[in-house]
Amino acid sequence: MIPNFADRFDGISGSAIREIFKLIARPGVISFAGGNPSPKALPDDLVGEIAAKVIKEDGKRILQYGATEGYPPFLESLSNYLKNKHAFDLSNNLVLPTTGSTQGMDLLCKALINPGDVIITENPTFLGNMQAMRLYQAKLVGVDCDNDGIIIDELEAAIKKYKPKMLYIIPTFQNPGGTTLSLERRKKIVALAEEYGFIVAEDDPYGDLRFSGESLPTIKSFDKTGNVVYLGSFSKIISPGMRVGYMVGENTIIRKCTIGKQSSDLHTANLTQAIVDKFLRENLLDDLIEKIKEDYSIKMQTMLDALKDFPEGTKYTKPEGGMFIFVKLPQGLNATELLNTAVSNNVAYVPGTHFYTDGGRENTLRLNFTNSDIDTIKTGMAKIAEIFKDNNGGK
Ligand SMILES: Cc1ncc(COP(=O)(O)O)c(C=O)c1O
Repeated sequence: MIPNFADRFDGISGSAIREIFKLIARPGVISFAGGNPSPKALPDDLVGEIAAKVIKEDGKRILQYGATEGYPPFLESLSNYLKNKHAFDLSNNLVLPTTGSTQGMDLLCKALINPGDVIITENPTFLGNMQAMRLYQAKLVGVDCDNDGIIIDELEAAIKKYKPKMLYIIPTFQNPGGTTLSLERRKKIVALAEEYGFIVAEDDPYGDLRFSGESLPTIKSFDKTGNVVYLGSFSKIISPGMRVGYMVGENTIIRKCTIGKQSSDLHTANLTQAIVDKFLRENLLDDLIEKIKEDYSIKMQTMLDALKDFPEGTKYTKPEGGMFIFVKLPQGLNATELLNTAVSNNVAYVPGTHFYTDGGRENTLRLNFTNSDIDTIKTGMAKIAEIFKDNNGGK
């Protein structure tokens, strides 16, 4: 029997990326589709040693049920790390460890969103969280971006028109865009949130992966009124499989999210919180991040060089970090349709249309540069360039 599923699933068909993964899950396919860290970036030996150590030191507490608010040593080291790194004011804000930053976004929607509430997002935006917002029956309104991130005039017009409950934004090395929101726009967003009274969900899983240029302060660091909730993650700098993220927000918001978390998973696994705690206390992160950045920046440059052979008129972002490049093909080329040809030639990407709140933009695609080695990037990109050129009259 097929039951009557809850209304919240109406129109939700599962992540398009997961469907593409099924298509490309055969040996020999070069995939620029996923968002996985490089296997080389995963510190398996070190995590193994630390896991044994923390179990020896605090095994009985780690293997017992823990507090929803977090494993106490981790809560302490994470709070110190965030005060030093982002100058967050933790007198009016609380930190909550989450099961990946994915859970942070889910809890924030659980706490704030009623069916029909409007959430403004960048257009394009991260597919995974689009799905989370839709499962809470939010109405998503996408606002276009340029090279400096979301376009403020268009954002303000959308705020006036739709009176949003929330703005969801990935200000640094955006997924899928690769772009970074300028300093001026970060400040303006805080001012708009105060003036119009909405919550900003600042999603920042890539901020540490900067290969060039100056680091910018977080949006949250300008927040004096508690309108901004910061979502952080250790997925891209230690391990996505460990599922450790966190949220930082005004006390009452985080308390509501904590209540919401009790019925989601009671608490994030003590073991992985304890492992990340050691990375913070023993200053192991910096070395790890340096190695990852060295590897990723060379891969990104290889991909950018290969993009010069794409059809005439192709435009693409030139990120200063992160994991993705976003490509706009000349009008008339349909990246969604051509994915089938690409996959039969053993190479894959994600068509950009899936990242837009209203679909369309069939001439766009997202490329991931972190999860393939240099030679594979060259081979795969040459294949894609050939397919696109063949369908663009050879040019
Ligand atoms: C923009 C963005 N937010 C959140 C996530 C999920 O991160 P986590 O593994 O911490 O749940 C990702 C992962 O790809 C992402 O790209």
